[in-house]
This record gives sequence, structure tokens and C-alpha cells, in this order.
Amino acid sequence: MRPLQIGLLGMGTVGNGTYQVLQRNKLHIERRLGRILEIKMVADLDIAKARSQVAEYCEVVSDANLVIANPDIDLVIELIGGYGFAFDIVLKAIAAGKHVVTANKALLAVHGSQIFEAARQKGVMIGYEASVAGGIPIIKVLREGLTANRINWVAGIINGTTNFILSQMREKGWSFDQALQQAQSLGYAEADPTFDIQGIDAAHKCSIISAIAFGIALPFESAYIEGISELQAQDIQFATQLGYRIKLLGITKSSPQGIEVRVHPCLISEKSLLANVEGAMNAVMVHADATGTSMYYGKGAGGEPTASAVIADVIDIARWSSVDPGSRIPAMAFQTDDLADTRIMVMDEITSCYYLRIGVADQAGVLASVSSVLAQAGISIDAMIQQPADLVKMQTELIILTHHAQESDMKSAIAKIENLPTVLGSVVRIRKEEFN
Ligand code: HSE
Repeated sequence: MRPLQIGLLGMGTVGNGTYQVLQRNKLHIERRLGRILEIKMVADLDIAKARSQVAEYCEVVSDANLVIANPDIDLVIELIGGYGFAFDIVLKAIAAGKHVVTANKALLAVHGSQIFEAARQKGVMIGYEASVAGGIPIIKVLREGLTANRINWVAGIINGTTNFILSQMREKGWSFDQALQQAQSLGYAEADPTFDIQGIDAAHKCSIISAIAFGIALPFESAYIEGISELQAQDIQFATQLGYRIKLLGITKSSPQGIEVRVHPCLISEKSLLANVEGAMNAVMVHADATGTSMYYGKGAGGEPTASAVIADVIDIARWSSVDPGSRIPAMAFQTDDLADTRIMVMDEITSCYYLRIGVADQAGVLASVSSVLAQAGISIDAMIQQPADLVKMQTELIILTHHAQESDMKSAIAKIENLPTVLGSVVRIRKEEFN
């Protein structure tokens, strides 16, 4: 069979990793696929650098449009990033009848519906395993491995930068800013780490997971997103005293009320597997009706782990390209004409347990007044610690863990607590999840 001819757009860390892994494992891949994969063209603005990374026979250009214009190219790997030029070039590649493999979660979360529809109409495939959790094949797990199941929920640590920062804050007692600087100097965080620390990168990935887990349109616009930049080292230490770790989780759940899609910091029991995912590692936990809970752990970023996912998609596309489009695995796991229009729940509707840190005057009756507000809202206390009082300022802090409560009830209880004359300043509130 004729080799599959590939055009690679973007020779950064993942682009170079993809080229190197394909060369290094060429024979193994051919033994598995029964067909040769050939990177025929590479496009990168830095032509000299790209030239130094690839073999002589590979054509190097600076304009990605030249790759799209080449009729011999069957498949384009988009590793440019962002949703400006990358969006344009992906649509052009599809219009030219080329299959596309991308690691671009932002592009798919925001413009995925348009991209998948264009690909469907043209009969080409979009591979996006590399867009979520890098080297962990979670798209394949949800779309194929667990295809017999009804998925109940998925929860994961799907941003390595923030997990690294939170691990450093806990282990070293550092502030958020200190840990961020460390992440940047070690190359984990981007120079502009906004998408990571604000939870947007995790929300892109969580939206893709949610769509393929539940057979819905990409829900990014309705996702609840809260990052980690407001987290204080003392809350991480208090959580530790109570037997919990704080992680930035992407959570998507199906319930009779609708689907939850949310990213926010969470206390989770230190005994849970997820709590022990440290540093820049990723992990995704899936609860499905037949399998129960399963968990997938690995590197969520980096040149070769991400290249592994990119190449797996290329191999799949090479296998499926000769199959009638209607008989292929649906791009978004469910048949396009059978997507559900299940509503995405707003945050006020969800239920969670909560961690509260409340600064109070060290006076008689303060604890009773706080617990009375919670009791009136029907919110039950699970555990509590009180810090030894500052005897000069006559102040102390109450740390309370609650049982499950609805977010809207907790919000109004916090507003009432903050209005108590003996409560000093804002209440710190972090959600707590149990994955049993
Ligand atoms: N910025 C991402 C992370 C890289 O920190 O996980 C992979 O998407």
C-alpha cells in the first residue's frame, strides 16, 4: 500500500517529539500498521531550526498553506496552537480533503463543533487524543475501551502546571507566587501561565471529556471555571492537618438534573489515588456503570508523551481511512445525529462538601453563632478545628468541614456568617469531593 503522506505544522517541542518518535520507532510502527508513515513536509516559521530537526528528503517550508496545497499530503498534524491561524489552517486542511490530527484543546473546546461538522461533511477524520492529558490515552478509553458503559462521572488532574504548583505549596509551605516562579524556572509553566492557573486549560480538556463521555455538544461556554491563584498556603496546611490534599480538578458528572462541567480547587482525602498524583503528573478517574471506577495515570505534557498520542491518532487514521465514513468510530464517540441536548447545570445547583476558614473574634458564643447559621441552612458539620487564639489581637480561626450541601445554600450561609459581628473578614471556601 502507498505510504501515508503527512504534513507536520509546527516544529516546537511536540512537533520535534513527533518527528523523532516516528523515526525512532519506524519499524515497530510499520510492523503494527502494515503501512509506511512518511512525514513529507514540515512547516515552521523558523525554517533553519526545522531543517536541522528533519531528514534531507523532508521538505521544509515556512508557510503552512503550502502543505495544504500539496495534493500528495493525506494527513496534516496541527501543532501550532491557539485558535487564530490554527483554526483557519485546520478548516483549510479539511476543505482540501485532508485528515487532521491536533493537540489543540483550546481550538477544539471553542470551535470543535464547527471543525467536526466540516470534517463530517468532507468525510475526513479529526484525531485529538493529544489534546487531553498528553500521553494518557483517555480519549481512546472513553470512546472505545468503555464504549459498552454508561459513564456516570469523570474527574481528573488534567493540568500538570497547577498540580506541580500545588504539590510545591504543600511540600515546601510556599506561597502560590513562589511555587509559580519555580514552575516557570523549571519550564513547566508558560511565560504567560494565565490559561493554566485560571483553570481555563483544564476546562478546555474537561469540556472535551464531557462531550465524549455523555454524547453532548462541547460544553465549554457553560463550564464553571475557578483557578488556583487565590489559594493560600495556610489552607493547604490546614487541609493536610485534616487528612486532605488540595488539587485542581476537572469534574464532569451526569445526574437526573443535568450535566456538571466544572474546574476548581478541591479537597480530596489523602488516602485517595488522585490525592497522591503529585508534581506535573496527570490522572483521570472514570466511574462507569459496568466497570465501576477506573483510573489512568501518566504524563500530561512534554514532547514525547504528547507525540505518542499524536502518532497513535495518525496510525488509527491510516487504518480507518479506507473504511466508509459512516462505519468509522464517531469522532465524538456518539453518532452525530444522536447527540443529547442535556442541559449543563449552573454551579448554584450542584452539591458538594465544603471547607470553610473563618476568622473570628475570640469571644464566648462565636462558634455557636456560626454553627447556628449552618444549622438553619440545613448544612451539617463533619469536622472542625480551632486554631489557638492570638492572645494579643483576641482573634482566632475556625476551620470547618461540612457534609454535602447545595452550592446556593452554602453561598447564602457564607453571606450570613460574614455578616455576624464577631466574624472578621471574608470566609475562605473550598469545595471537598469524595470519589467513592
Ligand atoms: N499547560 C498544560 C499543562 C500542558 O500544564 O498540563 C498540556 O496541555
